[in-house]
Amino acid sequence: MASPVETVIRKSVTQGIMKIVEFNRSRPRMGQKTNTFLTGIHTPVEAEMTLENLAVTGEIPAALNGRYLRIGPNPVAKPNPATYHWFSGDGMIHGVSLKDGKALWYRNRWVRSNAVSAALGEAPAPGPRRGTQDNANTNVIGHNGNTWALVEAGAWPVRLNDELDTLAHDPFGGTLKNSFSAHPHLDPETGEMHAITYYALDPATIHHTVVDASGKVIREEPIKVEHGPSIHDCAVTKQYVVIMDLPVTFSMKTLLAGQSFPYRWNTAHKARIGLMPRHGSNDDVIWCDVEPCYVFHPCNAYEADDGTVIMDVSVHDTMFADSMQGPDSEKVTFERWIIDPAARKVTRTTLDEAPQEFPRPDERFIGKKYRYAYTMALPENHGFEVFDQTKLYKHDLDAGTREVHDFGPGRVPGEFVFIPRTDDAPEGDGWLMGYVVDTNTDTTDLAIIDAMNFTAPPVALVHVPHRIPPGFHGNWAPAE
Ligand SMILES: [Fe+2]
Repeated sequence: MASPVETVIRKSVTQGIMKIVEFNRSRPRMGQKTNTFLTGIHTPVEAEMTLENLAVTGEIPAALNGRYLRIGPNPVAKPNPATYHWFSGDGMIHGVSLKDGKALWYRNRWVRSNAVSAALGEAPAPGPRRGTQDNANTNVIGHNGNTWALVEAGAWPVRLNDELDTLAHDPFGGTLKNSFSAHPHLDPETGEMHAITYYALDPATIHHTVVDASGKVIREEPIKVEHGPSIHDCAVTKQYVVIMDLPVTFSMKTLLAGQSFPYRWNTAHKARIGLMPRHGSNDDVIWCDVEPCYVFHPCNAYEADDGTVIMDVSVHDTMFADSMQGPDSEKVTFERWIIDPAARKVTRTTLDEAPQEFPRPDERFIGKKYRYAYTMALPENHGFEVFDQTKLYKHDLDAGTREVHDFGPGRVPGEFVFIPRTDDAPEGDGWLMGYVVDTNTDTTDLAIIDAMNFTAPPVALVHVPHRIPPGFHGNWAPAE
């Protein structure tokens, strides 16, 4: 539990603390004049651009009518490299609009936080803020006809127009009272989005949050935790929401030191996975022990006939134990976890030893037994700071096999999203879409792969004539 003193400090003296933080954040530090997440492939883009009628190699499937959107950190002002963390950069969205087999436009736009608006000489964007937190930089989704930029830990969602301009900071029309998450999961059966959410300033409470198909929050159920865990993502099954309470927790010491991302590996925090009945409350959560490790992203989860929950995850051995600049695990593998609510334990099996992240399923199968998982290769022996892997993986979880799509020397993919060929196409019949940075030419392609012909060359490459820095998450937003 957080000590009462720490709780009082957080609740009452936040402004004073933030003065110390800001002072320490601005101090140069000996030996830390560079930051890997501000150089090389990560060098921020300096301007917003609108490019029309993009060059295309191959043929864009005519059925793809909508926008590919991806968001990531892109500091608007030069940050102090000694205190900059990749996860704290100002959110920038890079989008490409496709229609009738053509690439209509590319746009990149900063999400207008107060800091971004000030740096660009603009009036603040409308809408309420949650304290000082208003940088949405982690995911961008379409829901209920709107486009939303999302982040965890407190800042509210930001609503954008189709051209990626910020309309308003918007807690779902005022229906959201607490935090949201960058990883809500759309239940294909109900059209509801489910998320596990947390607030940096409340170390003792997280929420199960549900947004209905009309875009209103209909549930914010509190769940008790300790130490302020960073819960990046969740999974949803027919009966449960899966809570990943793992040992990365809020660190006041790190915040006071002026670091921009105050979460650290915490050996005092017990690792556990919670199965919360969708309509249950705190007392109904079935907590199951797991060995200390960290998971940003599950691929999918579902219930087996024997009552266990199967969840496939990219697992890091530790996280934020060393580096102050970004993710720093020594080992990341793809695993199947069997969560047994009767025995209250988690059994881990390695599906693939190769380092990989950003797992995505065919999302029509969220919460259901599924066959295909798509993941991005990570470098051997070093983490996210060196994006130099050129491979995407397709796992056939039934056959226990893996196919590899290699984009070629120096061509580095980010996360890819699956788009079904038609609403009722069989699982895995569709396209995979994502950005590939060509480090040979400092350009980027939006690559479209036929998911059933995974190792073949992309069916289309939409050429963007500059480098789009590796970011976080991307999604397809079909035209309404
Ligand atoms: Fe994520």
